[in-house]
Order: sequence, then C-alpha cells, then structure tokens
Amino acid sequence: MGNFEKLNNRKFLDLGMQPLANSYLKKKYLKKREKKYRLEIGFNSRKKIVSILKTIPSKKMFNKYYPYKSSISKTMKKSFKIFATKIKKKYKPKCTIEIGSNDGAFLKYFNKNNIIGIEPCKNLANITNKKGFKTYPFFWNRNLAKLITKNYGKVDLIYSANTISHIKNLDEVFSSINLALSTNGILILEDPSLLECLKNNAYDQFYCEHIYVFSLLSIVNILKKHELEVFNIEKIKTHGGSNRYYIKKKSNKKYIINQNVKKNLNIERNFGLNNFSTYKRFASRVKKSKLKLIKILEICRNKNLKVIGYGATAKSVTVLNYCKINKNLISYFLDTTTDKQNKYIPGVHIPIKKYSGPMSSNIDVAYLGAWNFKNEIFVKESNFIKRGGKFITHIPQPKIV
Ligand code: TYD
Repeated sequence: MGNFEKLNNRKFLDLGMQPLANSYLKKKYLKKREKKYRLEIGFNSRKKIVSILKTIPSKKMFNKYYPYKSSISKTMKKSFKIFATKIKKKYKPKCTIEIGSNDGAFLKYFNKNNIIGIEPCKNLANITNKKGFKTYPFFWNRNLAKLITKNYGKVDLIYSANTISHIKNLDEVFSSINLALSTNGILILEDPSLLECLKNNAYDQFYCEHIYVFSLLSIVNILKKHELEVFNIEKIKTHGGSNRYYIKKKSNKKYIINQNVKKNLNIERNFGLNNFSTYKRFASRVKKSKLKLIKILEICRNKNLKVIGYGATAKSVTVLNYCKINKNLISYFLDTTTDKQNKYIPGVHIPIKKYSGPMSSNIDVAYLGAWNFKNEIFVKESNFIKRGGKFITHIPQPKIV
C-alpha cells in the first residue's frame, strides 16, 4: 500500500514485542538473542482494512524451513477434499491455479494436468513436485502470472486458501490474478473472517504472517480498482471461522451476484466493522482476556496441577508472548508436526514434545493452542476428558472446559 494509505492506518491494539511466529527454536539457539518486532494492529478507515502495522519481509518467513503443513489435521483434509470435489463438479475447470499450495492438501484431488501449484516454501513445493503436480516454487506476482499464461494460457479457476492474507502488496496480488484469469474464469479465496475474529476475541489471528484479517467489506474495497467483484460468499468453519469469497471479473456476465453478498455486507456494517470504535472495544476485551488467562494458569500452578499446551500453533506464539506465559505456567507443548517437535516456542522458550497418542494420566490440564481444531481434538482426547482432564481455552473468553 502507498504512503497515503499508511497514514490512514489507525492503531487500535498493541500485542507487544513478538518473535517470528513460525520460527521454532532448536536448543542450541536458546541462548542467542531473538529478533523481535512490535506487533501492532491498525484499521484503515478508507479501505476498511485491518492489518498489522509493521510487516516482515516475506522471504524471512516463507522459505525452505517453513514448518506448517495443511495436511496435519483431519479437519483441513476433509474441508479441502469436499471443496475440491464440489468445485470440480460445479465449474469443471480445465486449468486451475492454486496460490499457496502448501503440501498439496487441496491440489491432490485434481488431475495432474489440470492444476498448477504456486508455493514459495521450497520444502513444500518439493513435496508436490515430486508427486508429479507442477508447482512453481515462487511468490505469486505479475511476472509469475505472465510466465504461467505464456506456458498454459489463461486459467479458468484460481483458488487460494489462507494465503492472500499473508501477502502485503494486495494490488500486485489482484492485478496478477486479473492477468492470469480468463474472461469467464473465477477466483475463490478463503481466509479467516474478521467478524468471527472480533466475536471470538481471537487476537491470536494476528501475527507476522497474517498481515491482514479480511472482512467482506475490505475485500469489496480492494477489488474495485482491479475490475473484480465478489459474486458470492460462504461462511465456513475452518481456522476459527472463515469466509469463502467467490470473485469474478466485472465483465463476466456468466454469474449473477448472489443476495448473500449484500446480506453479509449489512451484517458486517451492523456489527460495526466500518467503525474505529468497534476495534477499540475489541482491544479492551483483549486486555481483559490476557489478565484472565494468566489468572487461570496461576490458579492451576498454585494447585500444583500439571498443565501442558496442546498444538504449538503460530497463533499461540502471539498469545504466549503477549501474556508472557513461559514454562513456569505451561510445562511443555504437544504437537503432531515433526518439524516443530524437540524445538522451543519462539520468545517464551516452552519446549515442544512429540505427540505420540492420547494424553496420559499425569496431565491435568491442557491449554488449547489449536483451539480452531477443538472438535477434532476433543474426540481424540475423549479418554482424557472422561478421566476428568480439563482444557483451557481463551476463545471466546479464557475459561476451563
Ligand atoms: P493451525 O492452527 O492450523 O495454524 P497456525 O499455526 O497457523 O496457528 O496449527 C495447528 C497446529 O496444531 C499444528 O502445529 C499441528 C497441531 N495439532 C496437533 O498437535 N494435534 C492435533 O490434533 C491438531 C488438529 C493439530
């Protein structure tokens, strides 16, 4: 965004000094000084966009060491499978691009000749390239859009889940999409919903990688300049409540604009997503949330309960560093991701252990780092719950469940 827009970003929340969220530390680096940045969130009143104010260069975050894999959870695997099947049937795309194809959780449901992956994290791009899915290990931009259209022609479907919110230059993103998309082609985006984030007090949706948390209002505003428009929106459950935006070129008359769009714009306006005061109120709820979470953890410690963390998410890095929670309050985290295991949570240095099956009886309480997978986790840990084991969640308010 240009300087003019920067001036319109009014800060409403300060989440303190934070390390890079996905940079889990090996033991040998614990004594080294970690780079930290100030995580502040602002509202652009002109474009109605909520974003972090200081951004980190993409190459520092999305590189060959990127640990997050989309296929780690049953919830995400199922969501991608159902949606891939649905859009193949509905739109019958001959050529699809997926921006941010990660480890191929969505891509794999397509015919290898019909889909192109874009994934700048080379470790992940290697996974899908090895399986025979053409994956460009680059960042999405105009040069790449030109290269792809030169090689394959314009495409009739572009899909991107949980990726566009990670890219700072939205004008570049959408002008490149416009370039690669055929006249009657469609773009489908999925990203965490700002409305749900505010309703859930999910301040941990903000970290270095999540530059934006979008609303429909903001997407509509961003698209205007690019002759693109939203023609439908679905609310989905993934990542704590997301929006799925169906977007087309304005010149594309094949699809009419669904009434859902107007309805959801009104819902967002009525909630106050247009107004700075709504964000200030959110910020004061966040401060209360911090105090309450610390209090609950201190009560557990005073009762000598064994408290661990469940799911070393990037989101928990924000919570733990903002609330200054270290291993005095949470002994260690369990996580299924091999690249996180035997490492330490950035900033607060809580160890991460391998999850090797349902929690044992020596654990009393588990702080739900992966709260967005609560249902899946509660099923997996049904014995722990039956035994009287408890979970702590900060969503929508810190409590023991
Ligand atoms: P996720 O919430 O998807 O994202 P982010 O890191 O962007 O906040 O991450 C889920 C993490 O939780 C991931 O590291 C895997 C872990 N996890 C478990 O350890 N066990 C589980 O049962 C599930 C569902 C996730």
